[in-house]
Amino acid sequence: MTILKVLHFPDERLRLKAVPVTEIGPEICVIAENMLETMYSEGGIGLAATQVNIQERIVVIDLSEDKNEPIILINPEILKLEGKEVTQEGCLSVPDYFDVVERAKNIEFRYSTIKNEIITKKVNGLLAICIQHEIDHLDGKLFIDYLSPLKRNRLKKKIHKQKIENNRFKKSERLENKSLNKIL
Ligand code: NI
Repeated sequence: MTILKVLHFPDERLRLKAVPVTEIGPEICVIAENMLETMYSEGGIGLAATQVNIQERIVVIDLSEDKNEPIILINPEILKLEGKEVTQEGCLSVPDYFDVVERAKNIEFRYSTIKNEIITKKVNGLLAICIQHEIDHLDGKLFIDYLSPLKRNRLKKKIHKQKIENNRFKKSERLENKSLNKIL
């Protein structure tokens, strides 16, 4: 298995729209395995292929405490959105930044499994939020796109400052801080 490089905002490749997977073969399985490995190593709970510079509609998620309940979604599609929920979100592509985003509380969605079965499901809570966040990635959208222009500006300044700080602090110290939150 290989740990892939996660693209960071403002990398323009995060804005590319992923295309549907047409054939679920060994190549797709390898990509999904590598994405899971990458997500676990980065301490995230979700990862979309777009974030590792692969423009195919593949998402991996694991919300379990022990990181042993991986979910692989091929060509995930939202069929229905219901209700509203405001959650604090983070993203492996926007390191060390968390903010509240309003999304649908309940969703109905459809996806293909790695075994090529098509499944339709209704979910809520963190899983529903995570799926909406990851499908956004496949469409070239980031959670920070939902922030007000004022907040986005603040974030840009923060990222600029971080670049300077990152040269001063060791990576291990930053990872320690990050592990306190859930990162999608
Ligand atoms: Ni994300």
